[in-house]
Amino acid sequence: MTIRDATDVFSEWALRGRDEGMESGHAKSVNEMLEIAIPELKTPFSAIDVGCGNGWLCRKLASLDDCNKVVGIDGSKEMIAKAKQKGEGEFHLATLPGWQPPQKFDLIHSMEFLYYLKEPLEILKIFFNEWLEDQGILIAGIDHYLENTASHDWPQSLNVHMTTLSEEQWKQGMIDAGFIDVEIRRVGVKSGFVGTLAIFGRKS
Ligand SMILES: C[S@@+](CC[C@H](N)C(=O)[O-])C[C@H]1O[C@@H](n2cnc3c(N)ncnc32)[C@H](O)[C@@H]1O
Repeated sequence: MTIRDATDVFSEWALRGRDEGMESGHAKSVNEMLEIAIPELKTPFSAIDVGCGNGWLCRKLASLDDCNKVVGIDGSKEMIAKAKQKGEGEFHLATLPGWQPPQKFDLIHSMEFLYYLKEPLEILKIFFNEWLEDQGILIAGIDHYLENTASHDWPQSLNVHMTTLSEEQWKQGMIDAGFIDVEIRRVGVKSGFVGTLAIFGRKS
């Protein structure tokens, strides 16, 4: 069977309301990721959520006094349609790699997005060189990784490409991209779940 584009699969999820389940399912890890990243940011700060789904994290960031600009991007037409329906905010239908934002950001956030790319470590370099302001922060959450053996059958069960990297490979990829203060922590740990890898790094 031909491998499907992740963005097509997630458009079907959006039409079936499964975006709401991701919102609630990812909230614990994302809240812990924001607790790591936000104290490290200058104020006010601008932010972009890459692979934003229905835009829930963008709406959360926009509600913070210190956030003066937030943009969400996703390659799924139906996710972006839903994000726009759910309220105010700047959302772009954009598939990576191959799209460039019109400005740089102080915070790049992504949750459960990077491993859908064929070359996720290359996008880290693009984020570092072209998307992040000086002293900006990248924080990215990853649930599909080598040490999470329970996630190894996800590519087959969804019939989409996923790049399976180890904690060490993500860390080295961040360092090779140029990030400093690189840290990989596990967040959202709970019974039966080894946790989301929260990948943190700073530009300069
Ligand atoms: C697992 S969902 C996570 C959505 C959201 N971050 C959340 O936590 O609810 C992954 C999202 O990444 C998007 N995505 C996957 N590959 C993409 C690509 N190459 N370019 C842009 N978006 C992509 C999908 O359309 C989907 O909405």
